[in-house]
Amino acid sequence: MLNLIGLLAQTESESLVPEAPAYREGSYWFPEAASTFAKDVDPLFMLIFWVSLVFFAGIVGFMIYFVIKYRDRPGHKVEKSASHNTALEIAWSVLPGFLLIWFFVDGATGFFNMRVTPGNAEQIQVIARQFNWEFHYPNGDATTELHLVRNRPVEFVMESRDVLHSFFVPAFRQKQDVVPGRYTYTWVKPTKEGVFRLYCTEYCGDSHSLMKTNVTVHNTQEERDQATFYPWEDETPIKNGQRLFNMKCSGCHNNTDVKKTGPGLGGIWGKTETLADGSTVEVNDNYFRESILNPGAKLVAGYANQMPSFQGKLNDDQIFWLRAYIKSLTPDAKIEDELNLPASEAREKVGEADGEKPAAE
Ligand code: CUA
Repeated sequence: MLNLIGLLAQTESESLVPEAPAYREGSYWFPEAASTFAKDVDPLFMLIFWVSLVFFAGIVGFMIYFVIKYRDRPGHKVEKSASHNTALEIAWSVLPGFLLIWFFVDGATGFFNMRVTPGNAEQIQVIARQFNWEFHYPNGDATTELHLVRNRPVEFVMESRDVLHSFFVPAFRQKQDVVPGRYTYTWVKPTKEGVFRLYCTEYCGDSHSLMKTNVTVHNTQEERDQATFYPWEDETPIKNGQRLFNMKCSGCHNNTDVKKTGPGLGGIWGKTETLADGSTVEVNDNYFRESILNPGAKLVAGYANQMPSFQGKLNDDQIFWLRAYIKSLTPDAKIEDELNLPASEAREKVGEADGEKPAAE
């Protein structure tokens, strides 16, 4: 069952790490405790839970008992009831008061631990957008799944490219809003190797529930570097395009013909699209490029004008790679042979054949 859940989740998010093991689950009460915060959070949660349960059972139990014992009935005489008992009232105010102070001190200590990042933490930049996550590492690597090193504190510097999101890894007991227009910070020290779930936990649009990914905690820095490194220059434009698509586009576009927030991009190359104003356009190099840089210019009928421009966010190489991948999603589109060469050689050759660089100005 656990394997099944892991597999399903993996297929949905099109994991870039194919051999990732199934998620590690916890108990009925908690997901597995995989960070140093769990030892602050879990006992306090259970303490408050059991104290609440004992008080609830005691108060409701006595209430039911008294309701029955002192109910109005024929032949039952009402005695004058006591209105005040100083000793009893002090006892039931002061004793629970100590419990509340205990909760507060324990809770505040845990809260401050979560807010103050240790000085030796590495920094990972987190970019949230409708509807996916992007992680940038100190060595320049970028991924759509998060990769951490066990026992190494890490600070997340988080920004949103559109609306409010929230970063939540239940196994780490850590959650922080990601707010447009400002940075937010949080940190964690993972203590267990494995794959855990990362959710967006702030309703951010119609695909909010799909805004989830994996966190893999590796044993060593070397293992982590292997997982995040991607050889752009050595891979083909189509593969590079697929990776970029997963990072930048898959939140709103499927790589099939099924519509998401935006149109599905499978099988569209060379097809004729009907636009919002009733005119038509053929999906070719120029239309593809314009749709990335100026998405509102030729809006496909039936879709809102809500895609952000990628002007200045994708360079010409990247647009070329995306073009290669999107083209490869249309089975009968003519794929240039060069698109199967390493990226470092491909673009120039395709450009020579066309007499100019494709997908360039
Ligand atoms: Cu992002 Cu919900």
